[in-house]
Amino acid sequence: MRLPGLVDVHVHMREPGGTHKEDWDSGTAAALAGGVTMVLGMPNTRPAVTDNQTLDEALAAAASKARCDYGQYLGAGPVVPDVSGLAERIAGVKMYLDQTYGPLRLDEMDLWVRHFSAWPVQVPVAVHAEGRSLAAAILLASLADRPVHLCHVSTREEIEVIRMAKQSGVKVTCEVAPHHLFLCEEDAAAIGAGRSEVRPRLARRRDVEALWQNLDVIDCFATDHAPHTLAEKEGENPPPGFPGLETALPLFLNAVTEGRLSLEDIIQRYVTAPRRIFHLPEQADTWVEVDLDAAWEVRAAEMHSRCGWTPFEGWKLRGRVRSVTLRGQEVVRDGQVLAKVGSGRNVRL
Ligand code: NCD
Ligand code: ZN
Ligand code: ZN
Ligand code: ZN
Repeated sequence: MRLPGLVDVHVHMREPGGTHKEDWDSGTAAALAGGVTMVLGMPNTRPAVTDNQTLDEALAAAASKARCDYGQYLGAGPVVPDVSGLAERIAGVKMYLDQTYGPLRLDEMDLWVRHFSAWPVQVPVAVHAEGRSLAAAILLASLADRPVHLCHVSTREEIEVIRMAKQSGVKVTCEVAPHHLFLCEEDAAAIGAGRSEVRPRLARRRDVEALWQNLDVIDCFATDHAPHTLAEKEGENPPPGFPGLETALPLFLNAVTEGRLSLEDIIQRYVTAPRRIFHLPEQADTWVEVDLDAAWEVRAAEMHSRCGWTPFEGWKLRGRVRSVTLRGQEVVRDGQVLAKVGSGRNVRL
């Protein structure tokens, strides 16, 4: 079975400043191994990507190391930058409206408004906003008359507010991460207290059920691949975040076998809608060969991410990536990543 190359609009590459967790090499190897041929990198690096200079640094690292195609987000900070010269170079603007990993958080709603108004409407704006912040973000983006993309939606009330906003014509889109579709708070004990830290938190069983019941409202699947090392996850102040690039497609394929998703549901949310919402180019001669019948067990030891663990360790899944072809080149074959370091292309060039 052949699928188009997947497009993941929410990935943390950790470079610069956190390359012991992941870098543009290991992170894009993990992407390709999972059938993802295009990633958009988040800006909560160290330093955070917030201006031309920090953007140059992140893009230079990506250009020299990435094995799949990529874009880089700019993080909205306390000062609204001169958008000319920046807007064309970025995958989008990311606004952190609630507490999460990294220093980027905008507390004042007037600052949200200034960012919503400053960026041209064709620049995608993605927000980390949970619960009532999500409702506030939708309202303020709508008042500024610009589209807004809501990251990692995880609860019943959030998805229901998004349905209402869409029904009344507000230009809102959203993504859901695989861990919020396949895990709930009851799984946290088995995963481990530190390891199961993630933002948004693993939700209640009825929230997970509500996401599945409102699949038609979910525009995109995106991993929020947020690698932290095992030592960090099991240490004093465990940072929130799960790796996800190498398990997302197998989890979705397994859900196809279980009759909970169709292949068309996957393609729509993991290729077509991401391209449309983020104005991304098509990748010619690019596809993923999957084996829907292959039964296997998830093992972090066989993965490419530098973080060395997965919340899905030991899961028995049906459905696996056999090979990936990117722009005519075979870049993955049976778990081996063959793509050359630095062969990925910037989607905004
Ligand atoms: C992300 C990270 O580690 O960068 N963590 C997380 O729990 N999702 C930050 C984020 O996406 O909010
Ligand atoms: Zn987030
Ligand atoms: Zn994230
Ligand atoms: Zn477009």
